[in-house]
Amino acid sequence: MSAQTLKVIVTRQLPEPVETRMKELFDVELNTSDTPMTRAEIADALQRADVLVPTLGDKIDQALLAQAGDQLRLIANYGAGFDHIDVQTALQRGIMVSNTPGVLTDDTADMTMTMILAVTRRLREGNLMMQKGEWQGWSPTALMGRRIGGKRLGILGMGRIGQAVARRARAFGLQVHYHNRRRLHADTESALEATYWESFDQMLARVDILSIHVPHTPSTFHLLNARRLKLMKPDAVIINTARGEVIDENALTRMLRGGEIAGAGLDVYENGNDINPRLRGLDNVLLLPHMGSATVEGRLDMGEKVIINIKTFADGHRPPDQVVPAML
Ligand code: DGY
Repeated sequence: MSAQTLKVIVTRQLPEPVETRMKELFDVELNTSDTPMTRAEIADALQRADVLVPTLGDKIDQALLAQAGDQLRLIANYGAGFDHIDVQTALQRGIMVSNTPGVLTDDTADMTMTMILAVTRRLREGNLMMQKGEWQGWSPTALMGRRIGGKRLGILGMGRIGQAVARRARAFGLQVHYHNRRRLHADTESALEATYWESFDQMLARVDILSIHVPHTPSTFHLLNARRLKLMKPDAVIINTARGEVIDENALTRMLRGGEIAGAGLDVYENGNDINPRLRGLDNVLLLPHMGSATVEGRLDMGEKVIINIKTFADGHRPPDQVVPAML
């Protein structure tokens, strides 16, 4: 099929250069309002598109896929995570799914370090004090945080992003510990000077900072449940730039409020943008609106990947970033 006759429907507004390139290459329908599509609108798009370009807010489940037209052959996700798409059902229906891995790694790792420092050095409180005009001048005891050098950082999930965080963390003098489904190759482990823990529970009890870098899958849902959170040191902090569903948000909120966990930096939430209201206003919690990959460069690179995936598909080949069953 020629790329120019390919009906591509995009569910959200994308950076302008990405949309311009898509208009040059495909018969594309853009969402210029940037309002997320309703379920009915996604169903309509699935009925008409050869290729759908959704993003992480668009839940594409079995019931929606059952309404897809026979012409739909590719879901080219604008994003690395694909937990919002029922990939298994898509594949059973002969629909390929692709994503945009690799291009968000450094941005997300940078954001993770930013959040580690922001939480341990109490940036939120300092900034709030300045904005409210409450600063009385320098004081030897005001807003003392914790030094990160020499502390233990536990990384849950040592894939691309986990390793990028480990490299940065070493430069800050953190001791890197990790838990992963598979132990890293010995060379990689020693290059990162990382200590592997087969038992996540045992690692949890020993780290000062925990950073989450696993995808959301049935086996990682609430991996950090109330029992595991209680294993952590009360002066430990948790950073999550991966997926909210990995942490039991209610249990974490209770423990943060009760002083059983010292602090948290959260960029993602268990129920999307429906955040536990009791997390708001806590001094020891930094809340961000899923900004981990939000750089101009990263978002353009994501668009470039989507376009390459669609073009390769149009040329009759498998998209380079096809999600395959082994990844589920
Ligand atoms: C992704 O692409 O899945 C990221 O979470 C976006 O920041």
